[in-house]
Amino acid sequence: MFPSDLESQIEQAVLLLKQGEAVAVPTETVYGLAARIDQTSSIEKIFRLKERPFFDPLIVHVSDYQSLEKVAESPSAAELSLMKAVWPGPCTFILKKKSSLDPLITSGLDTVGVRMPSHPVARAVLERLGVPFAAPSANKFGKTSPTKAQHVRGDWPNQEVFIVDGGDSEFGLESTVLQVFEESPTEVRVEILRPGVVTETMIRKVFADLSLAVQVIRKESSASPGHTPQHYMPTLPLVIVDPESGAFDSTMLQKISSQLGLSANGEPQFVLLQLNSDPRIAARELYEKLHTLSESKAHFILCPFAAEHRSEAEANLWVAIWDRLSRAASLIF
Ligand code: TXA
Ligand code: MG
Repeated sequence: MFPSDLESQIEQAVLLLKQGEAVAVPTETVYGLAARIDQTSSIEKIFRLKERPFFDPLIVHVSDYQSLEKVAESPSAAELSLMKAVWPGPCTFILKKKSSLDPLITSGLDTVGVRMPSHPVARAVLERLGVPFAAPSANKFGKTSPTKAQHVRGDWPNQEVFIVDGGDSEFGLESTVLQVFEESPTEVRVEILRPGVVTETMIRKVFADLSLAVQVIRKESSASPGHTPQHYMPTLPLVIVDPESGAFDSTMLQKISSQLGLSANGEPQFVLLQLNSDPRIAARELYEKLHTLSESKAHFILCPFAAEHRSEAEANLWVAIWDRLSRAASLIF
């Protein structure tokens, strides 16, 4: 049961989705811009609203394993083991697509990204719609992802998009995107295309518990252009500095100022993006802080971020945070 206000928003969203509209729904990662997968005209609306290039494939969201069967070929034993460990939740699997699935969703690839969300509102919408929906993050292409309804409204201020307000997203970062390969009956290789809340450490543990040897690699896929180097950009330039390296002295500020092309007169004004030392909280707050700080009248956002957390060798949540932060940045020192 949902509070009556939320209940009526869910009903309205399901009605609009049935009619072929795109609507914004909360998920545990970020808000998604959803459209039913069985109508090309609905899927087109996502790309048009987001101003997203057609070469960037969408993630299909399913409520259960029966729905999964409709969009992708049956998962392998290894894929299923990992799914059972992380679904419903913030992990997207790249699977072989069913030939009946609209190629617009997958940008013509023969694979499809699928995720079973855990958010009760997203799940209610899926169950009542009775059809999976495709949903990228509910923001204009390249911009900061939304973790609350108000962020979505900011990108579409003229009521072009109906939004179900489900409060703040629990994790605040997009799902981990990965692909699982069975190398042999005892060996698994996992390629992480986008790091997220489901970390390398967690993935390793799932397979280790099954006595399978696992190799996890980070892969920059050209098929994952959500992964263009510049992405998640806030409207104010973001500058990242190593707090150990004299970040706030006037030489550094002058360097930032000239590299951002700010006028030489006067001290550049900045607002500070201070992340929590607990990575779960840092992840949850990151986009919210970027949205809020972007509204400031300063010249740029300055974020101290420790060099020790910038390594891809870390197998924890800092990897995902650094991935988003570095793509959102205009300058990194
Ligand atoms: O947490 C999330 O995943 C959110 C919520 C709404 O579920 N959705 C999301 O979607 O982040 P989007 O479109 O912003 O990011 C989807 C990512 C992109 O980087 C895309 O390139 C990649 O998934 N992707 C989708 N299908 C793929 C495929 N078949 N092969 C490789 N990458 C794929
Ligand atoms: Mg996105």
